[in-house]
Amino acid sequence: MAAKAHIGQTLISGGRVIDPANGLDAVTDVLIADGVIKAVNPSIPAESLDGEVQVIRADGMVVCPGFIDIHTHLREPGFEYKETIATGAAAAVRGGFTTICAMPNTEPSIDNGAMVDYVLSRGATTPARVKVIGCVSKDRAGHELADMEELIDAGVVAFSDDGDPVYDAGLMRLALTYSRGLGAPITNHCQEHALCCGGVMAEGWVSSRLGLAGIPAVAEEAMVARDIGLAELTGGRLHLAHLSSAGSVAMVRQAKARGLLVTAEVCPHHLLLTDQWALGLQCSPSVSAGPAAYDTHTKVYPPLRGDLDVAACIAGLADGTIDCVATDHAPHDRVSKECTYQDAAFGISVLETALGTVLATVHDGSISLSDMVERMTTGPARVLGDGFAKYAGLTPGTPADIVVFDPNALWTVDVNDFASMGRNTPLNGVELRGRVAATLVGGRVVFEEPGMLNTGGEL
Ligand code: NCD
Repeated sequence: MAAKAHIGQTLISGGRVIDPANGLDAVTDVLIADGVIKAVNPSIPAESLDGEVQVIRADGMVVCPGFIDIHTHLREPGFEYKETIATGAAAAVRGGFTTICAMPNTEPSIDNGAMVDYVLSRGATTPARVKVIGCVSKDRAGHELADMEELIDAGVVAFSDDGDPVYDAGLMRLALTYSRGLGAPITNHCQEHALCCGGVMAEGWVSSRLGLAGIPAVAEEAMVARDIGLAELTGGRLHLAHLSSAGSVAMVRQAKARGLLVTAEVCPHHLLLTDQWALGLQCSPSVSAGPAAYDTHTKVYPPLRGDLDVAACIAGLADGTIDCVATDHAPHDRVSKECTYQDAAFGISVLETALGTVLATVHDGSISLSDMVERMTTGPARVLGDGFAKYAGLTPGTPADIVVFDPNALWTVDVNDFASMGRNTPLNGVELRGRVAATLVGGRVVFEEPGMLNTGGEL
């Protein structure tokens, strides 16, 4: 995707501006100058501005801060046949994400300062802002803490052994203790190994009917309970990755009520898809097509679960128990998915379908549009701390990271159009409602969907 030429001033006019950081939800204009937000005002006539102005007409569109994804697998180094930092960043801006945080389950893993430098320097040449999450343990092996201070000095924004949990409770206790002073959360992938080894989908009647080994919800919940206990013991900053079960959501709600420093995320697919998608049924009234039975694109960790779990995740997102949406974008090559369900890799390519998927919860009345925007902007920024506030609002003087989207545009997912190398999604061929029209990073248009904006010409 070629970056568009930078010009000094851009006016986004006539859109519904949703800016949770500043408590704004109104039709208004946004003026950008030299890469930063200059003014947000109900009427900024282009004629009143000196010099060249690029005008983006956003009537009927939502204009909001760019989405922030705190859980992105970019696969580089080591798995460039699945995704590169460049292709992942291109997919991000197509999906409206202006900041993405690379998970460290690469090869080698991101467990030292030199690796952080590598990813940051590759990320700096892409259209998105690429941040890095460092390992909790050396080589993600779960035995010995990584040098967390070295990682912080190199610029990591959080710590995680994602793809695997921090199994050792003593190590997790230490990591949480250090997180207090380091000012970055520990993001744990909660999965009690002894309860799920061999499991490939959620345990229940669907797994029985398909004859596939199941993973019970308690595999996630047991570790969520452990980690909340450790957060209380240490006063550390715990962030729970990809929550998927009703029991987990209830525990986070209680922990927050008790004032613990616990935050949580949910993935778009856990808000829309159930385990029945592995049966090959068209199981959701809001979608028009679906994958075939045993389609390995439905295989993801945590697994797709039942209706009650989906409802609990949506309710948790709506009431703020769950702080944010995070994609867990997990691109895979064809070989990793074109095999038996048992052998297939866990993971879904999410960045380019996230908005349309999450908007299903808005269209069915479960969550307001402004709250959805909050959970994709200020919500994730809050999880990572004060340094992220500047990317999460349309505050004058802050970087102009903006997404313009049509919440009602109907489109059919076609993986052949993906910028991501990961074509692994059960949503291929499914009609979604809501699509990104343009994405700006630092005031520069880094993505525009042809034909969606009335710009009077190419941007
Ligand atoms: C992720 C991956 O492929 O790296 N897979 C997945 O199913 N979510 C790992 C993870 O986030 O757990």
